[in-house]
Amino acid sequence: MKTIKDLDINDKKVIIRCDFNVPIKEGKIIDDTRIRAALETINYCIEHNSKIILLSHLGRIKEESDLKKNDLSPVAKRLSELLERDILFSEKTRGPELEAVVDSLKSGDILLIQNTRYEDLDGKKESKNDEELGKYWASLGDVFINDAFGTIHRAHASNVGIASNLDSAVGFLVEKEIQALSTLNNPERPFVVILGGAKVEDKIGVIENLVTKADKILIGGGMAFTFLKAQGMEIGKSLLDENNIDFCKKILSTYPEKIVLPIDFAVTNEYTNDEEYRQKASDNISIDEMGLDIGDKTLENFENILRDSKIVMWNGPLGVYEFEKYKKNTDRLLEYICNNNIKTILGGGDIVAAATQAGYKDKIYHASTGGGATLEYLEGKTLPGLAAIK
Ligand code: 3PG
Repeated sequence: MKTIKDLDINDKKVIIRCDFNVPIKEGKIIDDTRIRAALETINYCIEHNSKIILLSHLGRIKEESDLKKNDLSPVAKRLSELLERDILFSEKTRGPELEAVVDSLKSGDILLIQNTRYEDLDGKKESKNDEELGKYWASLGDVFINDAFGTIHRAHASNVGIASNLDSAVGFLVEKEIQALSTLNNPERPFVVILGGAKVEDKIGVIENLVTKADKILIGGGMAFTFLKAQGMEIGKSLLDENNIDFCKKILSTYPEKIVLPIDFAVTNEYTNDEEYRQKASDNISIDEMGLDIGDKTLENFENILRDSKIVMWNGPLGVYEFEKYKKNTDRLLEYICNNNIKTILGGGDIVAAATQAGYKDKIYHASTGGGATLEYLEGKTLPGLAAIK
């Protein structure tokens, strides 16, 4: 992998594609993790007297009314606070005004360009990797650094397009993310995967790819019920992914020793945080009950399996994390992992958000900044943003 250290960036105009697709409410950034994660590469460019041009998308732009709510300028403000220096901001994503600012950049200056997806208003030019747009953005700089791990599974003009037209490399964030995830291709053993989340549908590719590599896959979350149903169990009103029962049957019969399902759940009668719940064995769920978190015996079983593991990949919470009552065993398993220093990679937005909320993120071996990107990596797919770095 060609990295920023392989390029001469001294006094050069360096275009850095970041993933500043961060949650913003009423102009305020709710979680700046992705901005902080970009600082190492930006600081390295400052130290090398580069003229820095930052690009990122934010949200999705389908119509005129999406523009204002996906304005990237709050990121410029936050970056300026974190770096303790001025950040120039260009409202224009192309044209003479933008070019004039680029021409005026001095060593160490940083320019953030408005949301690259503003270009989507006119025929999805950014998202569909319009050739002319990629060429144009490339013409603004001397070298290109892709440090947007969260967007590495997309073929956009601002990543693949620019990389096709300029000497390119990955930044420190992408390098770190790929290094962490690639340890799973030749893992230390036992290698244990924890999979949660609502639907089997969203994880089919991940299961198919990881089941061949992992020693155990521990299944929690809503998706566990489709596996139980595939075994012929009563799951009451619990979440069912009807179309994928056969897929679960196939996985269970091909890898019976690898798949570990919950043996109990926290069950209740309504999908709400307000009712009391009971702990019930998986084979004792009534027709009018639904499971909203794994049970305490399952947690204990998962902990016993994790105790001896050498590396763990975790995607998706084990219960309905939005409800205070049903985040309990996800949090307890995170705590167990941290207390026992179990080498764990968290991938996917929801489990990383859970670890952040519960205060465990910084104690985890690696928490990925990518959601969809991590999943596609785990599915074994080619990542266009990475493939474009020659
Ligand atoms: C993400 O948050 O997953 C990335 O920034 C990609 O965003 P997208 O799903 O809108 O392409």
